[in-house]
Amino acid sequence: MRIAMIGGGYVGLVSGACFAEFGVEVSVVEADPTRLAALQEGRMPIYEPGLDKLVAANVAAGRLTFGNDIKAAVGGAEAVFIAVGTPARRGDGHADLRYVYAAAEQIAAAVDGYTVVVTKSTVPVGTGRRIAEIMRDHRPEVDVDVASNPEFLREGNAIGDFMRPDRVVIGTDSDRAREVLQRLYRPLFLIETPILFTGVEAAELTKYAANAFLALKITFINEIADICERVGADVHDVARGVGLDGRIGRKFLHPGPGFGGSCFPKDTLALVRIARDAGAPCRLVETLVDVNDKRKDSMADRVVAACGGHVQGKTIGVLGLTFKPETDDMREAPSIPIVTKLVELGASVKAFDPQGMDQARPILPPSVVYCQSVSEAASDVEALVVITEWNEFRAVSPSRLMELMSGKIIVDLRNIFDPDAMRGHGFSYTGIGRAERS
Ligand SMILES: NC(=O)c1ccc[n+]([C@@H]2O[C@H](COP(=O)([O-])OP(=O)(O)OC[C@H]3O[C@@H](n4cnc5c(N)ncnc54)[C@H](O)[C@@H]3O)[C@@H](O)[C@H]2O)c1
Repeated sequence: MRIAMIGGGYVGLVSGACFAEFGVEVSVVEADPTRLAALQEGRMPIYEPGLDKLVAANVAAGRLTFGNDIKAAVGGAEAVFIAVGTPARRGDGHADLRYVYAAAEQIAAAVDGYTVVVTKSTVPVGTGRRIAEIMRDHRPEVDVDVASNPEFLREGNAIGDFMRPDRVVIGTDSDRAREVLQRLYRPLFLIETPILFTGVEAAELTKYAANAFLALKITFINEIADICERVGADVHDVARGVGLDGRIGRKFLHPGPGFGGSCFPKDTLALVRIARDAGAPCRLVETLVDVNDKRKDSMADRVVAACGGHVQGKTIGVLGLTFKPETDDMREAPSIPIVTKLVELGASVKAFDPQGMDQARPILPPSVVYCQSVSEAASDVEALVVITEWNEFRAVSPSRLMELMSGKIIVDLRNIFDPDAMRGHGFSYTGIGRAERS
């Protein structure tokens, strides 16, 4: 079986490599010359654990190729996946579909036999129908079916998520398309992965609904954390007590500085638009978007308060910049508003992130100093702020921090440290949802 993957980013590259691992011949088409050159030279343009080895093995086996010739990739492919970006459109929050429609037009020009065109990108309801129209308008004579196959992988665990997903959702009205995709996903069917066949619209909406629900869980526990701080409860006790209820579940009940990333912010915003356009406004999602935006914006104030009300002229160490650990992705990361505001208020910021510093440089204020280690970021700083919970930060001992830092202020926005241990060593410790017990 041969397929083409349009877009070699986080989703296209991981899914392309995983399909190749299933034994399928995969041509990944990447338009960005820098990303493509890296892929063709065997370098990964993104950081994702295990991806380099998976790609190398499948390239060596001759099943995975990279190029920019869409015609060569699409010709003879049974399925063509669209895995290009769908960022939030500036101004109104609608998903920006220009890359999707451009890819659809390129595919339409390139198809040469029966082909299933599949959206893997997260796209608003109705996009699949629009792609079918584009195919018909450009090439009325060719035999094409359209399907929606939203991707649920998480950055940082993307290969595991793709190879052992909770479910695969396939939306199509065509039996032929269904047969092709069933064949493609056979290795997952064999390990008893639930494969859901739905209409195109239901599949498109499922992805937004799933992301909005997860974002809602995070936002909910963040608000509970705020209450905990006022009433003297520990949010982790509450989250455990709540999450052990099987109807609720323990995952995504971790309090923090508000969600960021390449998906939740833009997908919740897009769902707000989809719902309003459909005449069924989703007030819960509208509210969670607002609550989360305000939360991310307010986190710098928490640091300022911990520093005694001002940060002017103070040096602050920051641990973690990416929106979550095990990725280099900086899209919508909470570190952006936090670091930007601290710098605006006159602080000098020294930061360390194991993978995200190259991506952070063009986004964060130019005065930020990038460090090569935790120790360097903590040296001679008045306050240390944890923004991303990379595992290596958990191992840092309070006594070592005491030696390195000039001040005694820790603001732990991910609750990775033990508050009692920190306070026992003389630190003034601020976490999330864990008020100091009197
Ligand atoms: N990143 C995630 O964790 C994740 C998870 C699930 C779903 N998604 C969805 O998947 C889609 C892609 O996300 P991503 O994070 O992989 O984006 P990305 O920006 O990392 O990758 C998209 C790639 O497509 C390339 N591209 C754009 N137009 C092209 C064209 N016409 N031909 C060839 N290449 C083209 C870009 O150069 C880029 O490298 C989005 O809709 C996103 O919402 C992302």
